Order: sequence, then C-alpha cells, then structure tokens
Amino acid sequence: MQCQSEIEARTCGDIHTLEAAALAATSRAAVASYAWVGRHDQEGADAAATSAMRAALADAPGRGTVVIGEGEKDDAPMLFNGEVVGNGRGPDFDIAVDPLEGTSFCAKDLPGALATIAFGEPGTLWSPGPGFYMDKIVVPAAAKDVIDLDDPAEVTLANVAKALGKQVSELRVVIMDKPRHKDLIARVVRAGAAVQTPAGGDVGGSLAVLLPTLDVDLLIGVGGTPEGVLTAAAVRALGGGMLGRLAPQRAEEADAIRAAGMSLDRVYECDELVTGDAFFVATGVNGGPLVGRPRKGAGTTITESLLVSSGQVRHVTHTNFD
Ligand code: FBP
Repeated sequence: MQCQSEIEARTCGDIHTLEAAALAATSRAAVASYAWVGRHDQEGADAAATSAMRAALADAPGRGTVVIGEGEKDDAPMLFNGEVVGNGRGPDFDIAVDPLEGTSFCAKDLPGALATIAFGEPGTLWSPGPGFYMDKIVVPAAAKDVIDLDDPAEVTLANVAKALGKQVSELRVVIMDKPRHKDLIARVVRAGAAVQTPAGGDVGGSLAVLLPTLDVDLLIGVGGTPEGVLTAAAVRALGGGMLGRLAPQRAEEADAIRAAGMSLDRVYECDELVTGDAFFVATGVNGGPLVGRPRKGAGTTITESLLVSSGQVRHVTHTNFD
C-alpha cells in the first residue's frame, strides 16, 4: 500500500520523517480495523489493526523499540514490548502503541475508536512494568499546577475551576463509566459539575481536555497504563497537566508490581511519564468528536488524524492507496 499526506507532501513523496511514519502506521491500522467496525469481534478488529500497524512500522526510517505494546491486560493481539521496528536507516526511537484504542467501540460501531501511537527519544517513555491500570488526572495547561492525586474529587474540582476562571457548575468532567467509578461519578455530579461518562476510551477523553473546542475541562479516574503513557506524550507536547499513579485492580497485579520493585504510592508527573521530546498521533476508526472515520474512494481510503507535537495539534488527512 502507498500513502500520501500533507506531511509526506512536504517531504517529497516518500516517508522521510518519523511523523510521517507514525501517520502511516495509525492510518493503516485505522483502515484495517475499519473493515471490522460493527462486526462484534473485538479480537478480530484488534488483530487487524495490530498487524497493519506492524507492517507499516517496518518502513519507519530508523530503529524503533516498542516500549509499550498494548494488549497484555486482556490478552489482546499486540505489538510486544521490546519488539524492534523500522528499516534501520535513521535515528533510534521508542514507541508506545495502541493500534486500536476503544476496541469495543469499533466492534459495536459506537463513536470514538482510534488507532494511536506515540514516538519518543530512546529511554523517554515510562514503562509501567507489570502494572495494567493507573489513576489519572488530565487538565489543560492553566490548571496544571493545582492538581494533586491525593485530593478528594471535590477539592480537585474547586481548584481546577478556580484555575480556569470558572465555577464548579461550569466544569465538564470525563470519567469512564466503570463500576470502579460509581462513587466518584456520584460525588462529581453532587459537587455540581457536568459529567460525561463514556464506556471507555480515556485517550480520547484526555485529548478532549487538551483541545479547547471540545469544552471538556478535566479527565479523572482509573484507566490503562499504556493509554496513560500515550496520553502523556500528547499532554507533554501541548503543555497540559497530568498526574498518574499505578492503581492495580487485582491482588495479582499489585503483587507483580511490588515484586518488580515498583511503588504503588509514587505519583508520576507528566514529565516523568514522558521525559523527553515526543509526539502523538491518533487516527479515526469509526468517527467521533475528534476525528472522522476513513472515507473510501476509487482505489483509495482517506483517513483523518490528529498529530500532536511541539505545542501544536494538526488535523491531517492521509490518502491510503488500495
Ligand atoms: P482497549 O484499547 O483495550 O479497547 O481499551 C479501551 C479502554 O477503555 C482504555 O481507554 C482505558 O484506559 C482502558 O480500556 C480501561 O480498561 P478497562 O476497560 O479494563 O477498565
């Protein structure tokens, strides 16, 4: 498959840059999983996205190491940690991937599935070890200095509202609709904020916080660790605020984290989750508030992506030739 996009156009047709390689990887994963939209087969969709992303990454200019391969927590198909990608002709880089973020959205054709990737300099992407889940707060830049994972939700809301120049009643908060968040959601509603409760997809929820047009002020709650590192790449690139702390959901997960010598108490700042220059790309799989679904034409499929890097969000279309 050939690819063409604004970024590649700038670099004369071939994939020369890592940004273009990232865009090709998420675009191909999105096109591959688009064929599975609404098929009620999460594993088939994930496998299609993963193998398409793996194939695309083989052409990336340089030598990349998969630091975060999503899928271990639920035995989904995955790019495995330590897997080496790229054509070897270029810089070394690390990547975090979730070829299909929101697998169930794709399977059920509910909006919000994304193909995602983050590229960082070697050694800059935090490894959660055997930790699958983490507690997260994501806020816009203006509220980055007022968040604390140990604060009760009501205090967080008050502090974030003040930092954003709003009343708590004007805040819109994203909390994934999970049994573990039942009490949290009730408290935030009681405190007077509006709460958006998607069934999953905290990468998309975090991006909504970072993009002013989407009218979301805060994401809180426990989600996946791979998604946390991917999110941190976007948050760091845009100067937003994020805190994370491992939050194992089962005793075996907690034991494995302790056995690996990792702390369950340590709070990671965004700059500790991603310690150097990084960028993030998300491509739409079945449409949603951030990016549209792939559009088929004669011999082509056009995908829509968000490319988040160095203080910028670019909305990029990419033409994939059949
Ligand atoms: P998938 O990519 O595995 O579909 O994950 C979707 C997601 O909702 C993430 O956005 C979130 O971080 C994680 O799952 C939460 O995990 P769980 O559904 O096990 O609570």
